[in-house]
Order: sequence, then structure tokens, then C-alpha cells
Amino acid sequence: MNKLFKGFLFIASCISVMHVTAQKKTIDQKVDSVLRLMTLEEKIGQMNQYNDDWTATGPVTLDSDKAGQVRKGQLGSLLNCVGVDRTRSWQNIAMESRLKIPLLFGQDIIHGYKTTFPIPLAEACSWDMDAIELSARISATEASASGINWTFAPMVDIARDPRWGRVMEGAGEDPYLGSMIARARVKGFQGNKLGDLNSLMACAKHFAAYGAAIGGRDYNSVDMSDRLLWEVYLPPFKAAVDAGAGTFMNSFNDLNGVPATGNSYLQRDILKGKWNFKGFVVSDWGSVGEMINHGNVKDGYEAALSAVTAGCDMDMESRNFKNHLAQLVKDKKVPMTLVDDAVRRILRKKFELGLFDDPFRFCNKERETQALNNPEHPLASRSVAEKSIVLLKNENHLLPLSKNTKTIAFIGPLVKALKQNKGFWDVEVPGVDSNFIVSQWEGLQNKVGAGTTLLYAKGCEIEGTNKDGFAEAVAIAKQADVVILSIGERRDMSGEAKSRSNIGIPGVQEDLLKELLATGKPVVVLINAGRPLVFEYTVEHAPAILYTWWLGSESGNSIADVLFGDYNPSAKLVMSFPRSTGQIPIYYSHFNTGRPARSDDNHNYNSSYNDLSIYPRYEFGYGLSYSTFLYSNLQLDRKQMKPGGSIDVSLSVTNLGKYDGEEIVQLYLRDRVGSVVRPVLELKDFSKIKLKVGETKVIHFKIDTEKLSFYNQKMQWVAEPGDFDIMIGASSKDIRLKDEFKLVK
Ligand code: BGC
Repeated sequence: MNKLFKGFLFIASCISVMHVTAQKKTIDQKVDSVLRLMTLEEKIGQMNQYNDDWTATGPVTLDSDKAGQVRKGQLGSLLNCVGVDRTRSWQNIAMESRLKIPLLFGQDIIHGYKTTFPIPLAEACSWDMDAIELSARISATEASASGINWTFAPMVDIARDPRWGRVMEGAGEDPYLGSMIARARVKGFQGNKLGDLNSLMACAKHFAAYGAAIGGRDYNSVDMSDRLLWEVYLPPFKAAVDAGAGTFMNSFNDLNGVPATGNSYLQRDILKGKWNFKGFVVSDWGSVGEMINHGNVKDGYEAALSAVTAGCDMDMESRNFKNHLAQLVKDKKVPMTLVDDAVRRILRKKFELGLFDDPFRFCNKERETQALNNPEHPLASRSVAEKSIVLLKNENHLLPLSKNTKTIAFIGPLVKALKQNKGFWDVEVPGVDSNFIVSQWEGLQNKVGAGTTLLYAKGCEIEGTNKDGFAEAVAIAKQADVVILSIGERRDMSGEAKSRSNIGIPGVQEDLLKELLATGKPVVVLINAGRPLVFEYTVEHAPAILYTWWLGSESGNSIADVLFGDYNPSAKLVMSFPRSTGQIPIYYSHFNTGRPARSDDNHNYNSSYNDLSIYPRYEFGYGLSYSTFLYSNLQLDRKQMKPGGSIDVSLSVTNLGKYDGEEIVQLYLRDRVGSVVRPVLELKDFSKIKLKVGETKVIHFKIDTEKLSFYNQKMQWVAEPGDFDIMIGASSKDIRLKDEFKLVK
């Protein structure tokens, strides 16, 4: 027997031992038994992720020999590789490698796979954790049946600057709500446990503080105090760890001068240290190499050194681990223990996903067909979409429209749009028409009866100055009883690399509104966008406005449900809407300052703008219903609490309107005096309740020490004795009930 053959037999027997005894060993033992067999090249291979040959979300490195590397066991994961056929063919190649370590298939499953759901920011406006979890669950069910086992979601970056195009991927400006949504999304993607067939491994991103990019310019630097980081930007990440997120992605930005990808404080000290995170960290696309551009490392060799040392376990697309890690180990710059730790983390997830037991378990054609054609999924998408639509204005109860309306003119560049409704980050699913969408036009047609005539005119494009279509639009408006105008952004105006300095409604769309209003007909405006826009003319002149975001597959049906009152809108904004870009960044939980402005027309040496209100157009937590709700009878079971104690807060809410509806009741607190200044109010709890016409419900909240705590000057998490205001509101501005209590020693 020659040496090579003996070696082969040894490995083969180890692998079979590995597989046979798989059941009896713990995952860590299994991981170690694989690790022991691996060469340095194979270990480094696991720490790389490449883009497949199609759909790219960043600058692509062309690699003529990707398959060859997989065959040599030198790749851990692929991204942008979807569908049973495609993933199976790559996994087959991985099975030709010496140790047959399966590949992970990662993909941006951000708001759906075949069935698309509202963009995450829209869905967050539902404040409905069950709905949010369900949308992630269904996305996971579809994607995992289509060969994918890892999603680069949820994005849990707090975002307070709507110029930043990526606000569409997150849950808005608030750390409390953001943390709850992070938890719901992780639970939804991962299901009961990793390893279930319909579970998709989650990836909390972008670690950290990416949402605070200066000037809202994507990829830009972030400069922030440790307190802001810990109190506002980190909590949703911590929530994701607590919910069991399998992986984290670091981020493009530098944080206070240190690129996040090479940031030990973030990845080693906080994530893997203080939070004891056991999963692995993947870089963002090319971010390892981008540390050279940041000016933090000299070359790829130093970039790989910095990233690995700082706790980045997998290099997405930059090739610096592949090109330099072996040398770094040989040069004794990177200890083998660091490489082993990264590889262990990655292998552990592959074991947990069951890929060692069956590398093809997510590649079942029959299951794929079934999951992608499950009739329940569009229904769920429709329901989540209804819950995401925000009613901003409704003068004289123009909405809901009567189903007996004789003639409706439906006008605008987005009425018949299809793919637009998916928003950014949809997935090109093999064999599925990307126009698999119920358009707004179709939705309205589905809704109205034979007695209603629907007229259509495009009116104008989303962008540009051409007004040629106005005359036709005005002509049909004149024939109608009511006009619905659908305007907004293009779907790809918000998303990655989609920062805008002017977030007004593009083109001549508001001019079209002006002409339609001049007909004297009632006009309902639908605003379709991936971010808060500025639309002052519309706010001041249109009698009714629905913010419809991008709602996904069932857009048209869900919008029609709301227009005609089959669903009573309940969503509330999760980001403050500015009146002008000059107000940005804008958020509700600001400090009072030493010279607080008391009103907009008092500019007497106080903290205000001389030429603009300081208040948002629509505040955090704002959103109307077709009903009105009365808040009453606020009661605190005690007015004093001790550390470790709690106060029970109760109140009644009554539906005074003519429609059954839902209300999101918000609890805000203010710590009046702190050793560190505290915000004017902070969301600390909420309750979304359903109320029939005339019904009253009593809601209970519990205030405990945790809700009163913050980081003091020594960065200790404390609740300081003193006076607190409690405010119960229908938004962060519309405070309906107030009281106060004391924390005593
Ligand atoms: C984005 C990530 C995304 C990755 C892979 C990057 O450009 O920042 O959020 O997951 O591409 O598509």
C-alpha cells in the first residue's frame, strides 16, 4: 500500500467514524474531531465566503477556479446562490472534497423569498411581534426549501437619518422597540431550533452603529459616545444574541476611527466576551479589504491580521483571508488557536444545521415546489401588509371609501407598477416571475363591485419634469367621485448605497397633485417609499394620506382593504418624519438642553431653528385609525418603588368610533434628574389591543428597575433614586395620560 493510499484510508475511516458516531457525540466533540483532520489550507478555506457567479450585491472578484477551490475544501460558504438545483450542484462539488465539509448557502432574505412581505421598516410600523415573526417564519420556510440555510438578516441598526437609504431594512429609531423586533425576527427566521428543516440561520447586522453614518451617507464614518452606543445602538444586537442568532455581520463603517471589521472592542470584548456569543462573525461584503481604504491598515496582509485578531471569523468576498492568513500563521502573527476558534464556530453552525448528517437536506425539489406554492403565504403577506400601512391624515372622514362609490379615478406612476412594490432587497427566485405581485390597480379591481367604474391615468413618471400626462389625469379626475393618487419613490431609491440629500417626493408628482386638487374632487394620496420622505405640499393640501411604503406580493389587495375599511389601519410610525432635510437627524427621545424651545415661534436664544420648526412633521408613534380611542383612568398601584420592586400601571382604552379597530398604546418614562442627562421621554412598553365598537379594555404595564436604568458617568447600569414622569400616549407627542412616581432607596 503506498503512503497516499494509506493516508486516504485513514481519512476515510475517520470520516466514517465522524458520521457513524455523530449521534453519540456532543456537537463540540464532533467539531473537534473534524478540526483535527484539517490542514491549515482547509481551515482557512472554511473562513471564506464567495459570491456565486450571478447576482452581486457588491464589487465582484472574478474567480476562474471557484469550483476547484470548493473541490479542494477551500471554501466555507457561498452567497447569492439560490434554488435547489443550483445549491445542490455546488454541494455536490463540496462532497468531492477530501473531508466532505458541506457548504453554507447565505442569502439576503430580508423581507421574503418568493412571497414578499412589506419592507422591514414598514412591517415594524405594525408594532405586532406575532406578525413580524410570522413574516420571517414564512420567509425561512420558503428559502430553506430552496437550498438556502443562512439569511443575512435581521438588520437591527437603529436609524435616525432618513437620508440613509438603508433605513428601509431596519426597525426605525427606537432601541426598545428595535430590540423587541430584533428578537421577533431572529425567532421567526430560526424557528424552534437551528437544524429544523424550515429553519434559516439568522445574522444580526451590521455590528455596529452603521445606522449612524455621518450625514446619512452610506458606508460613512460613525463618531459616537460610548453611552449612545450602549444605550441606543447596541440593545437590538444584544436582543439578537439573547434570542439565539447564529451569526453576526460586522459593518463597513469605522466607529470612532476604528473600522468595525477590525474592531476588537466590538467583536472580541463586547460580542464574544461580555455577551458570550457562541456563533461566528462574517465580514460585510469586502469590508476586510476596505480597511486599506479606511487608512487603518497598509495592505491585504495587515487587513487579514486586523480582522482575524479583532474577531471576524469569515471573510465575505475580499479574499484577504485566502491570500494572507496562511502566511500570517507561518509568520506567527496569527496564532493557530485563533484560526481554530474561528473554524470551530463555523463548523459548529454547520453541525447544528444538520448539514454534516445530510448536506442536501435543504435541497429537496418537492419540498421547494410545495413551500413556494403554499396558498397560506400570500394570505399572511396581505395581513402583515395591512398592518404596515400608516394613515397619516383623514380630513372629514374621507376614508374609508364607500364600496358604492360610482366612479374612482386611480392616478399615478405607481398604480400599475409591479416589481416596484417589492422594494429593495427582493430575491430573484429561479423560475419565478419577478412581477409576482398584486398591483394596486388589480387590488382595487378585486375590491370594487360591478357598480363602480375605475378610471386610470398615469399622469407622470416618478422622476423627470414631463407634465404631458397631466391633462389626461385631470380629465378623468373630473369624471370621478373620488381620486386616488399613488406617488412616491422608485423602489431602488431606498436601500444599500441609496443615500439621498433631498428626500422630497421626486419629479413633478406633487405638481400633479396640485392640479388634481384644483378640480375640487376629494383626493386620497398613497405614498410609496422605502424611507420617510418630505412632502409638505401633500401634508398641507391633500385631505387624506396613506403611507404605504413597499408592501410586497399583496400590495394591491392590502391597500384596497384599507381604502375601503375592510381593514381599519392601526400602524404607527417607527421613525420621526421631518418637515425638511434641515431637521435631520431627528428623533423623539432627545435631551431637553439648557435652553429648550417652548414653541416654534419663540426663537429667543433657545435651542430652535430661526427658519424652521424643531418638531417633526409626523412624530414617532404617530398613526391614525378610522376609529378614535379614549384613554382614561390611569392608575399606579403605588407611587413609590424600591430598587428591585415594581409598579403596576393600569388604564382603560375605549373605542369611541364607528369601526372595530386596533390601538397601539405607548408607555413613555422620563427620569427628571439624572447624574447623566436623560431624554425628554423614552418608550418603555406598549400594548397593541383590538377593540370592538364601544368596547373598553383595561391594560396593565409593569414598571421595574430595569426600565428606569441607564449608564451613569462611570458607565455602570443603574437606576438612580428620584422622580419619574409616566406618560401614556397614542404617539410620542399625543400624550393622553400622565402621572409621576418615585424611586426610593
Ligand atoms: C450589505 C450586507 C449584505 C451583503 C451581502 C453588503 O453590501 O451591506 O447587508 O448582507 O452585502 O449581500
